Formats: sequence, structure tokens, C-alpha cells
Amino acid sequence: MNTNYSCFFGKSVQTLIFLGALVCLSGFAIVAQTTATNLTGNWAVKVPRTDGTNQWAYFNLKQDGLKITGSIRVTQFYYTISESTGGPESFTVTGTMKDGKSDRMVRYEVKLVGDELRLSTRRRLEDKPTDSVAKRVPDGEGAMPGRLPLPALHNVPYNRLAKTPPMGWNSWNKFKGRVDDQVVREIADAMVSSGMKDAGYQYINIDDTWEGERDAKGNITSNKKFPDMKALADYVHSKGLKLGIYSSPGPNTCAGYEGSYGHEEQDARTFAAWGIDYLKYDWCGARNLYTDEEMPAVYQKMGDALAKTGRPIVYSLCQYGRLDVWKWGPDVGGNLWRTTGDISDRWDSMTRIGFGQSDLAPFASTGHWNDPDMLEVGNGGMTDTEYKTHVSLWAILAAPLLAGNDLRDMTPATKDILLNREVVAVNQDKAGKQGKRVSQTGDQEIWVRPLAAGDLAVGVFNRGTASADVTVRWADLGIKGSVKQVRDLWEKKDVKVNGSEYKLTVPSHGVVFLRVGK
Ligand code: GLA
Repeated sequence: MNTNYSCFFGKSVQTLIFLGALVCLSGFAIVAQTTATNLTGNWAVKVPRTDGTNQWAYFNLKQDGLKITGSIRVTQFYYTISESTGGPESFTVTGTMKDGKSDRMVRYEVKLVGDELRLSTRRRLEDKPTDSVAKRVPDGEGAMPGRLPLPALHNVPYNRLAKTPPMGWNSWNKFKGRVDDQVVREIADAMVSSGMKDAGYQYINIDDTWEGERDAKGNITSNKKFPDMKALADYVHSKGLKLGIYSSPGPNTCAGYEGSYGHEEQDARTFAAWGIDYLKYDWCGARNLYTDEEMPAVYQKMGDALAKTGRPIVYSLCQYGRLDVWKWGPDVGGNLWRTTGDISDRWDSMTRIGFGQSDLAPFASTGHWNDPDMLEVGNGGMTDTEYKTHVSLWAILAAPLLAGNDLRDMTPATKDILLNREVVAVNQDKAGKQGKRVSQTGDQEIWVRPLAAGDLAVGVFNRGTASADVTVRWADLGIKGSVKQVRDLWEKKDVKVNGSEYKLTVPSHGVVFLRVGK
């Protein structure tokens, strides 16, 4: 603010003194007001979590009159302020960032009260605002780390793991941030007592929110929810099961916890020392530092790091199917790769994902699987008929079977669905070929997966809202002549078929899942 205190000149001294006083007073007022609303500085909102870690947001602001520039970091997202409006008492700032091919945006109302920044934001316009308070922190705190150079691409040798699609459990769908040591132990117990282990389920995978801070040597630690990761791994192993963990190539995970950025080899060594058998590696915080085109090099870094540990660790890539990951996933050491965004426990989410996978069939092979995300069976958002459709599709897709429900508390129907050995056998078929859609008539679809020894798994699906009569013509499935044996995998019985076709009725949102011997 340019305020001239020696600005008196002219004819009438009195008037001039009066005017001069006015100008100077308003000058003082503006100076005082500007000082009061000077937002320039680095501000942080710290929200302590019960696991001993903190969730952070940073506002690095520069105020120039009524214009605010700078950056906003909300957990793993770093936004540049692209617009500010309002002032001088209260501003609205908008931050934007590139995320692959799309843009992300945040908007905050910002007000300086005393030495606190009062913030208010909404995820969507119709949402209630979320308020928070930021305090001044030293410059540089919370700043985006420098971009580390990426290695040249090479092929990471296949680790000989996941010869069939991984089977097990993952904490995210049901527990999100509520997973802890006790839950994992009890899930391991339930995996055995429910018969799931005997049916082939093996991996107990801890998803996001286990991470603590790094120690003085940069080693990742687990937070209060997981007092001793090695002891937990020992426990899970003592049950004949394996333990999986989660991290990100970025500085932060999706839930805003510590990622492996710049610590890839160190973290891989820590995971191996703990006895970890499976790593899900989630792009999340890496999006601020690298482009999608750089994903292969970023993922290769951890692929190499895992190989270097000498411990067999299944490597699961989670970058939501961007950059046609199925084309390069195996080269960076991946055993499986997510092909889509997150599943949710709803019919439309599950079917949009599941029925959208047909074109990816050529990219699955022994040790290298398309991953349409974890199961929602038993989580309550779909009917048991719909959950059968879910598991039948995942069996045909040779998809990982990672249960996402609370195994300690399963209805008999949930157990029947997850434990159906003949359905699991389709999923685990040694030929390692993914199935695909062979016909679609309105809401009815027939999907076929070729199995070892010439058998076929045939899913007759009805996505419609009323039950439907469907005729399966064997010739349409590539079968010449008559079929030898047809087994209904959910009814668990052989069905009699004569001639060249089979007429059946499929319930709304249901499936008739057959195993056909040629
Ligand atoms: C992403 C992943 C999910 C889960 C969460 C955890 O959204 O796609 O599967 O791992 O992160 O924060």
C-alpha cells in the first residue's frame, strides 16, 4: 500500500489540512486493514488421528493486495492456487492440479482471525461446509518434495509367484481406517475356522492406514494400531497364511499416510524383514510428481526393490488401469494390476467393472493377472443373487479373489458363495486363461472361460430387472457336436442336456454358472 504522509499542498491550507488528514487517516486504515488480513505465510491444519499419526493440510499463501497466490496441499494432493476472490476480510481461493488426464480442484473460504486462519470447504456445492483452523508453521514445511530421477526401463524378471490368481482377504472394503492388529489376527483365525483357508484363500492383506512416521534412519514404522508388524506376520504365518501390506510410490498414500517415495529399497527391505508376502502399491501421492507416462519406471523401481530382497513377495500394481497397465505390468515385475477405479458395494459399480473387462482377456496369463478390484461379497450392499453374479464374473475373469468382508461374521449364504469349491476351481484353473463375453442379447450375456483339459466355464448372466429365459447353443460357444457333461456350479449338480442347446431361466441380476465338459 503506497501511503504518502507528506501530501499537503495547494491554496487553502485549512482545506488541505482537512483533506490531507482524511487521506492520511484512510491510508492508515487501509494499512491497518491490510496488515490485519495479511495471509502471507505457511499455514497448517493438523488433525491428530487416534493411531498417533496426524492428517495435514498446508496453505502456502502470498497476499498481494486483494490477490492471493501460492499452493494448497491436502494430504497427498498438491494444488496451485489458480484464482482468488473476495477480500479484504475474507477470501475464496481455488486450487487446481493435474491428475493424469483430468483436473482436480479444491476451494476454500479463508479468513484471518487473530493469528489463526479459519477455513471452510465443501466437497460438492450441495454438501455442508467442513471447517478447520490453520496455524502458522515454518516456511518449507509440507512442501512438495523434489522430483527424483527415474531409472531407465528394463524387464524385471518374473518372480514365479501368483501362478493362479491370488486368493485371500483385504481390509479396505469393510474396514477402511479401522483395521488394526487385533482385526487382522481375528480375520486370520476366521479364515482358518470358516474353511476359507482350506478352500484356497491364503493372503491376509492389510490395506492403507497401517503406516507410522519414519524413524531417524528413515525406516518406515507402523502406527499405534500395529504395535509389532513382525509379530503379526509371525502370527499369520503360524496359521499357514501369508501377510500382505500396502504402500505408495508417492510421498503419501491415498489416505494421507507415509508412502515409499525415495525409500523404495529401504521399505522393501523392511517389508521383507517383517515377513511380508504381498505388496499392493498404490499410485496416489505419486501423481503430483510424475506423469502417467512415467508410471512404468516408477513401478519398476519397486519391482526391482522387491526382487532385490530375495523374499518372494507378490507385487500388486494399483494405478486404476491407467496407461493400459496390462501392456507393461509384467515388465515391471507386477503379478497383478488394477484395471479400474475403486469398486463399491453396489450392483451398478460391480457390474460396470465386471462386465467391462472382456477386452482385457488376452493380457492375463500365469503369474500376471488383471485385477478388477476386491470382492464386496457379504458387505450388505447387494443381494446374495447379485453376489453370486459378482463371484461368477470374477471366476471367469481369472481375477484375484480377495474377500473384502468381515470374515468373523458371515451369513451361511456369504460362506456358501465364497466357499463354493467348484467356482473357486474355475477361478484357479491352471490354464490361466481369462474368459470373455461371447454373446449379448439385451440384458442377457453369455461369458465363456476356456479351462484346462478342454472344459469351459459358461456364465449365463441376466442384468435385467425381471427373470429371463435364455437358450444356450453349444455351437455358439465353439463346441462341435453334443456336450459330455454339464454341471451347474451354484446348484452343485449335473444337469441333463440333450442335443445342441440348453434352455434355462436366469433370475433378475443373477447367473447360471455352468462347467461344460466337451
Ligand atoms: C485407493 C485404492 C483402494 C484403497 C485405498 C486406500 O483408493 O484404489 O483400493 O487401497 O486407496 O487408501
